[in-house]
Amino acid sequence: PYLIVVHGPNLNRLGVRKPDTYGRRTLPDVIAMVQTVADAYGLDVRDVQSNHEGALIDFLQQHGPEAVGILINPGAFGHYSYALRDCLEDIDRPTVEVHISNVHKRESFRHQLVLSDVVLGQVVGLGTDGYRYAAEALCQRWQQQRS
Ligand code: DQA
Repeated sequence: PYLIVVHGPNLNRLGVRKPDTYGRRTLPDVIAMVQTVADAYGLDVRDVQSNHEGALIDFLQQHGPEAVGILINPGAFGHYSYALRDCLEDIDRPTVEVHISNVHKRESFRHQLVLSDVVLGQVVGLGTDGYRYAAEALCQRWQQQRS
């Protein structure tokens, strides 16, 4: 059994890009954090980062249907990608959306989150620690549904 971690555009630059906003942890650091949580539940992690919308959708269509849960930071796609939204709706797996920064305190174009109605919940503005909380939530949900 495995969790999926999906990262959208520019998140390959984590740790380097705007560290005051997005923190100093790199993408491999974040994936390792999620893996540590997943390990405690006996879950594997499969991850993808792409700057291309279609590549994320291809990955989700391939790996999503069998996943225990999906953790997604869609980056800016979260503000306007109806294609990603429709893909998550279609796959219909428990999904937690993470935004490192509090998008609601930033530019108005970041206030709209188009995945909102197809995700279980969102962790917004808690820095990269948010991934740990999101992973815990998905793992606990999976464990409870098994027992
Ligand atoms: C982000 C917020 C988005 O608005 C932005 O485009 C990102 C990162 C976040 O994690 O805070 O790339 O998703």
